[in-house]
Amino acid sequence: MTRGRFLKKIAREILGEDKASLIWGRIEIIGDIAVIRIPFELEPEELKPLAERILEEFKYIRSVWGGLPGVSGPYRLRPYVHLAGEKRSETIYREHGCLFKVDITRVYVSPTLNYEHRRIARLVRPGEVITNMFAGAGFFSIIAAKLSRPRKVYSIDVNPDAYRFMVENVRLNKVEGIVEPILGDAAQVIMEKLQSSSDRVLMPYPELALDYLRYAIMAIRNCGWVHVYLHIEADKGENPYEKAKNMVADALSELVKKYGFGTIRKVRTVKPRTYQIAVDVFIEK
Ligand SMILES: C[S@@+](CC[C@H](N)C(=O)[O-])C[C@H]1O[C@@H](n2cnc3c(N)ncnc32)[C@H](O)[C@@H]1O
Repeated sequence: MTRGRFLKKIAREILGEDKASLIWGRIEIIGDIAVIRIPFELEPEELKPLAERILEEFKYIRSVWGGLPGVSGPYRLRPYVHLAGEKRSETIYREHGCLFKVDITRVYVSPTLNYEHRRIARLVRPGEVITNMFAGAGFFSIIAAKLSRPRKVYSIDVNPDAYRFMVENVRLNKVEGIVEPILGDAAQVIMEKLQSSSDRVLMPYPELALDYLRYAIMAIRNCGWVHVYLHIEADKGENPYEKAKNMVADALSELVKKYGFGTIRKVRTVKPRTYQIAVDVFIEK
């Protein structure tokens, strides 16, 4: 039985059919921490017996946390409550052979980006210089440095905790000299020291991607790839890929001479009818 089915099954047993129908059928595993979502309609206390059952069933889990609705603020943090096991929110999380020390309450971490982290890493050509504008604990940057052979990855984040974990993760994965963590606002850092520095720019923060597109272009040398991430609401009959492409095209038309689209893909569903879309675009300044 999958972890999601297990969660639904125990939710029905413990909470009854009605409340169980509110539970998101997914257990996120981050290292030895399990996270279940707490819907608006339920109190965290009600989910504690479920968390105890998760600890009994999955012996590698040491701590269970409940994620309350809403990732918010500039650091993109979700409020969490401890539900069972060790009261510890720091762990080591593995992805694509890399190790990431994270504290789920202090830095953004989402296992659903797993495939996207590797997809971007595989696009990187040896010797490239990359700017990652919204690096978090360093996932895209470190995985790219490990799986491909970039010359340099400038890895920016404005959250001091994300920066601290990124510095530690660079050491853990032995990519010092390739990944350079930088604490600060991406626009300011690019204006001050990364203009015309890079062959590829990553923008994995949908809320700021279009506003900061001009800085991504500023960071590109003469030409190069920009990976723009957007949250796209698409009603029935609307094509989220077309919508994302048009939004990026509109923003680019005032900023660059020439551009062409590469892959445009759905990274994940954020909520009903809202999708995170990755738009790869090659620009010539
Ligand atoms: C969605 S998270 C990044 C996800 C991360 N790249 C990953 O793979 O898990 C967005 C990140 O952007 C950072 N951020 C927000 N505003 C910023 C800014 N103006 N400049 C740089 N980083 C910023 C946040 O602190 C957060 O870590």
